[in-house]
Amino acid sequence: MLTVLQDPASATQWCREQRELNKTIGFVPTMGALHEGHLSLVRCAIDENDVTCASIFVNPLQFNEADDYSNYPRAIDLDYRLLDEIGCDMVFGGTNRDMFPEAESIEEVTLLDPGRFATGLEGEFRPGHLEGVCTVVERLFKFTGDCRAYFGLKDYQQTLVVRDLAKNLGYPEIRTCKTVRDEHGLALSSRNALLSKSELALATNISKALYSAKALWDSGCRECDQLRMAMRDNLPVPLQVDYADVRNPVNWQANSPVGTISHAIALIAARVGEVRLIDNLQLDSRL
Ligand code: PAF
Repeated sequence: MLTVLQDPASATQWCREQRELNKTIGFVPTMGALHEGHLSLVRCAIDENDVTCASIFVNPLQFNEADDYSNYPRAIDLDYRLLDEIGCDMVFGGTNRDMFPEAESIEEVTLLDPGRFATGLEGEFRPGHLEGVCTVVERLFKFTGDCRAYFGLKDYQQTLVVRDLAKNLGYPEIRTCKTVRDEHGLALSSRNALLSKSELALATNISKALYSAKALWDSGCRECDQLRMAMRDNLPVPLQVDYADVRNPVNWQANSPVGTISHAIALIAARVGEVRLIDNLQLDSRL
């Protein structure tokens, strides 16, 4: 049976009690509006740990557009039901004040430096986003303490940032899980709920573009420009593309590499109408 806790202090206490019972804890941080992608993380956490908890908090610090924050889908009762059904043990949330008690308002919260993996891509196109992610995730890690924390690879750059954060904190162990896609290849995202039927169809071009770069890579191409071009060619005009890029995930160079690339992940961010989507695909199967 799912235990629902309304504030982080109670979650800290719950986690402490589990550790006193020598139980390992899996932790899945979320912003709610749960879909199969989140549930796959929870399942993975359940498989690998004695107990599992999740957080649901729509973090205002990571939205660089006010409308995006207010329009972000919220479905708390359904979220609780889904977590209960799959066997999650505890979920917690909290108010802005609970998460950032030192600040009178959200604008007053001091943002953490998200580190070197925040350079470019999301760091460039969503100023302040990764700072906001890093700031809230550090709090969530401190609330839950030493555990295993689960993140989806769809937010690839976020996984690099939180890994770095966890390394600096000394905990938790970061586990990443592969992107869950629908039958058309579209990466599952809470934001997909905001798309109309025609926008959903348009959005499937994002994964098609990634798979075209993968096909080119598999044919032996290592030229960054050609890999980028293969993606651009598959992103029709109504999509407003922020980036369609390749990066070396090992060193995450500050500037997109020119010339050839030996280890690569392809990453796309594009707006479909008002909704901004991101996706990525590992090109190099040796990684
Ligand atoms: O990936 C997300 O849903 C969010 O960025 C996270 C990690 C829960 C922080 O708010």
